[in-house]
Amino acid sequence: MDLGLANKRAIVTGGSRGIGMAIADSLLKDGASIATCARGQEALERTIGHWRDQGATAFGSAVDVSDAEAFASWFESAVKQLGGLDIFVSNVTSMNQYQGIERWKQAFEADLLQHIRATELALPHLKQGNSPSIVYIASIASIMTANMPTETEYGAMKAALISYATQLANKLGKDNIRVNLVSPGPIYHENGFWQGVEKHKPDLFKRAAALSVFNRLGTSQEVANAAVFLASPAASNITGANLRVDGGTIKNVNF
Ligand SMILES: NC(=O)c1ccc[n+]([C@@H]2O[C@H](COP(=O)([O-])OP(=O)(O)OC[C@H]3O[C@@H](n4cnc5c(N)ncnc54)[C@H](OP(=O)(O)O)[C@@H]3O)[C@@H](O)[C@H]2O)c1
Repeated sequence: MDLGLANKRAIVTGGSRGIGMAIADSLLKDGASIATCARGQEALERTIGHWRDQGATAFGSAVDVSDAEAFASWFESAVKQLGGLDIFVSNVTSMNQYQGIERWKQAFEADLLQHIRATELALPHLKQGNSPSIVYIASIASIMTANMPTETEYGAMKAALISYATQLANKLGKDNIRVNLVSPGPIYHENGFWQGVEKHKPDLFKRAAALSVFNRLGTSQEVANAAVFLASPAASNITGANLRVDGGTIKNVNF
C-alpha cells in the first residue's frame, strides 16, 4: 500500500532512540523528510548522520521540549529547514523520571503541557500543510491499574493527553487536520525503559510479557507502523482514534 508520504514534511519529537527513532526512520523510508530533537546531542547527531548517509533528508539539533522558549525557537527553525509542515508526531515522555512531592507538576509538564505547547506551535504551519495530521504517543498506562511499573502520574497524564487529543480532533476537522493517538503496551528497545526492567526486575519483565497474548513485549517498529499509517494520507478518514499496540494486553472489548 502506498501511504502517500512522499515529500511530506514531518516533525517527530524525541527521535534519537526507541519509538521516536523508529517513527522518524519509517517516515524517511516512505519518502518524507523529517526534523527531530532530543536533549542528548551525541545520540541525536549519530542518528541523523546515519539517515543522511543513506540519502535521507533529516534535520535535528538538541533541545529540551520543557524549555518553552528554546523549543519554540527550535520548532520554527525546524519548519524552515523542512520548508513547511504536514505531519507532527508528539512522542517525547519523561517516562517516570519524576521525584518527590513535586512530581505531579513535573509529570504535568513532561507528559502533558509540552505536548500542548508543541501542538500550538505546529498548528499555524499544519493549516498551510498538505493532508496535515498529528499523532500523539500515549500509553495503555492511561487505562491500566495493575501490573505496571510506571508511576500513577504517568498514567494520569497519558489519560489527559488522550482526552485532549480526541477533543482536538473534533475541533480541527474544519481545518482538515486529522488528530490520532497510538497507545503502546510495554515496548522493548535498546537503552529503553524495559531494558532496565529486564536487567533489574526480571520477574516483573516476565509478568509484563505474559500479559500480552503473544507472551512478549512489543517493538518500536510495531508502534511506528501504526503511527506512520495514522499520520499518512492513507488514513484520510481516521481522526480521533486511539490505536492500541499492546499485543492484546488490555483485555476489554474495544468498541
Ligand atoms: N517504551 C515503552 O514501553 C512505552 C510504552 C507505552 C508508551 N510509550 C510512549 O512512547 C513514547 C516513546 O517512548 P520510548 O520508550 O521510545 O522513550 P525513550 O526511550 O525515553 O526515548 C524518548 C526520546 O525522547 C527524547 N527526550 C526525552 N525527554 C526529552 C525532553 N525533555 N526534550 C527533548 N527530548 C527528550 C529522548 O532523548 P534524550 O533522553 O536524549 O532527551 C529520546 O530520544 C513516549 O511517549 C512513551 O510514553 C512507551
